[in-house]
Amino acid sequence: MTNKLINFTKDGQKIILNYQDQPLELTILTPEIIRVFQDRGNASNSYAIEGDKKIKTDFDIEDKGDHTEITTEKLIVKAYDDKKIDVYDEKGDPLIMDYRGTRTPIDRQMDKEHLKLAESEGHDVKKLLGMHDENYYEIIKTLASDEQFYGLGDKTGFLNKRHYAYDNWNTDNPDPQVESFTRLYKSIPILLGIKNGHPYGIFFDNTYRNHIDLGKESNNYYYYSAVDGNVDYYIIGGDSLKEVITNYTYLTGRVPMPQKWALGYQQSRWGYSVSQKQVEKIAENLRKYDLPCDVLHLDIDYMDGYRVFTWRKDTYEAPEDFIKKMRKLGFRIITIIDPGVKKDDGYKIYQEGLEKGYFVKAPDGTVYVNEVWPGDAVFPDFGRKQVREWWAKNCKYLVDLGVSGIWDDMNEPASFRGEVPEDVVFHNEDEKTTHRKMHNVYGHNMAKATYEGLKKYSGKRPFVITRAAYAGTQKFSTVWTGDNQSLWAHVQMMIPQLCNLGMSGFGFAGTDIGGFGADTTPELLTRWIEGALFSPLYRNHADRGTRSQEPWVFGEPTLSIYRKYLKLRYRFVPYLYDEFYRESKTGLPIMRPLVLNYENDPHVYNMNDEYMVGEDILTAPVVQEGQTERAVYLPEGEWIDFWNGVEYSGKNTILADAPIDKLPLFIRKNAILPWGKEVSHISDEPDKTMTFRVFGDKVKYTHYQDNGLDFNYQNGEYNLYDVEVADGHVKIKLAYQGYAHEYQQIIVKLADREVVFDYCDGEYVEK
Ligand code: GLC
Repeated sequence: MTNKLINFTKDGQKIILNYQDQPLELTILTPEIIRVFQDRGNASNSYAIEGDKKIKTDFDIEDKGDHTEITTEKLIVKAYDDKKIDVYDEKGDPLIMDYRGTRTPIDRQMDKEHLKLAESEGHDVKKLLGMHDENYYEIIKTLASDEQFYGLGDKTGFLNKRHYAYDNWNTDNPDPQVESFTRLYKSIPILLGIKNGHPYGIFFDNTYRNHIDLGKESNNYYYYSAVDGNVDYYIIGGDSLKEVITNYTYLTGRVPMPQKWALGYQQSRWGYSVSQKQVEKIAENLRKYDLPCDVLHLDIDYMDGYRVFTWRKDTYEAPEDFIKKMRKLGFRIITIIDPGVKKDDGYKIYQEGLEKGYFVKAPDGTVYVNEVWPGDAVFPDFGRKQVREWWAKNCKYLVDLGVSGIWDDMNEPASFRGEVPEDVVFHNEDEKTTHRKMHNVYGHNMAKATYEGLKKYSGKRPFVITRAAYAGTQKFSTVWTGDNQSLWAHVQMMIPQLCNLGMSGFGFAGTDIGGFGADTTPELLTRWIEGALFSPLYRNHADRGTRSQEPWVFGEPTLSIYRKYLKLRYRFVPYLYDEFYRESKTGLPIMRPLVLNYENDPHVYNMNDEYMVGEDILTAPVVQEGQTERAVYLPEGEWIDFWNGVEYSGKNTILADAPIDKLPLFIRKNAILPWGKEVSHISDEPDKTMTFRVFGDKVKYTHYQDNGLDFNYQNGEYNLYDVEVADGHVKIKLAYQGYAHEYQQIIVKLADREVVFDYCDGEYVEK
């Protein structure tokens, strides 16, 4: 029977479409963002979106007989009977069209005999048959033959998600992550599409377990399904993929300016932190071998029996002295914190949490216990504000010791005696609910608490790394892709994975360089440190029990090549920092796939082994063992080989020479790169001079400068420099002046000469 659209009512920018059964609400947030909402009896608060994002937007709404039509300056939405919604851009190009047919589940070849056997072996037959609980729902959209998909956060596999299906249920699965994995540690349900050349986004804001099939089941439709929750999704338009991302990050937030040192190299390994002596040995070697590095990570063994917010005493002198000592050598210390609190009556954090009722409970009202690193452990109920505040306060312990950032791990949450059952009692703020609803935002809320603690007690821009995340976590934390392995398949996957995270709002992300599990080889490690050169988070990390993978353990030439790339990384830090500044304004990622910059070029829709950094840098890492040359596709425009200055015309594939010490690297012609100094680590002192390298002859570039540490930039304490090159002349102007440490000298390196400027009387004067 048809579910008739009877009429509509308007409440400001909310349109209530009155259907025979229940209403469907469309809320116009901006000319390019429309929320589609159907109340299915769940609380409607969002963890991804903070604050009211609605801006005053003009729109028309008209009853057109067979449908109701809503028009903003940028989008047209047509609502029909049966809650069918079609979305077009302002020119009438179809973007998101509800599917009118019915789904045909993938043929699993499960005949009766098979099902009987499966049942006798204890399998959930209902599940095998694709049957669902009563709260389950599906949203099915029409799929065009040329439609391409991106986004969805950290999912494994290739850049373009068409033909694949994924689950959103944060999961710690220690097996080697391959493209058949449907889920990983994060749930970031932002889907970006390009349909007939027209970009769009859909953000499904539902924390319950959900599934996205992007044309795996059928060539005619793609669909989203969730086991429970409201229908709550956002239609996102924009004239380009970039604008869609800018709109999405307007909605869910942007990566804030990091502390500058966080862009430096970071060294880690599970096992170092068992003793101060071992950590000091690593620090000593990094300096001895002239390897620039800013951060040492302490994994779980620095704690006293894996009790969070404690420090072991047997193998460390006073931690504050140790941390000070490391700082003197130019290293900052990051400590890991897991959510699982050891069940131990003599332990303050456990006692306090227990007394205050801060841990999640089994349905019978007793505190829920599972096993993590410390053995029996209990889990803070991070959905509650008081619990987040308590956790934030606990972070003070680490801040006071001098720790520079916190690495939140195991926060899916992971547990060793099976997954936390879905009916364990959690809170959605003050509302009593279950793990089933709060699972996917557990890591998000832990990261938020950590961010708030670091901000409050350090006054610095918080440096948090989290493994689990939800859409919007980018406001609080950087992420890494969890436990990869020392496999060529995983250095290959780094590129699509970080590019999709970037397009999903997570511009600050990285992989475990060298691979976490399994044993690396000198060649794999070398190609990884090269290929990850522009990975926003640049950290080598490995599992205990795997072969050591610090650069010096392999001798030459690995050590020298590794050193060469660490030094090169620091040269690019000012450019990366500028990119973070631009990202904080636009939401556009630092590391990005070619499709984001060249969305009209179908050649790059499936480009898995090249990436760009901002607009001006293109790199084509070698991610195959034994390869010493490779094909590089250069998109439209002119490109300059970074190493030898040779120019190439784009829309062309070239063969690049790539011996083991060479990362194929190209700079867009007419680009300027701020060029960092050769340093062992990022200093807290303001730079007195800055160098710009010019590639080409006509270009203008804006460079950002602030103190790289705290929030003063939000009060205007920063400078913007315009560097302009045209007709052989160079001009430098302070386009905005708010930070009292202007560079005293600026050097501009052109292809054939250097131009030096001195700062006098508020101006840059050529020497
Ligand atoms: C998890 C993390 C890994 C860490 C280990 C021990 O496996 O993903 O990075 O080293 O736990 O804390």
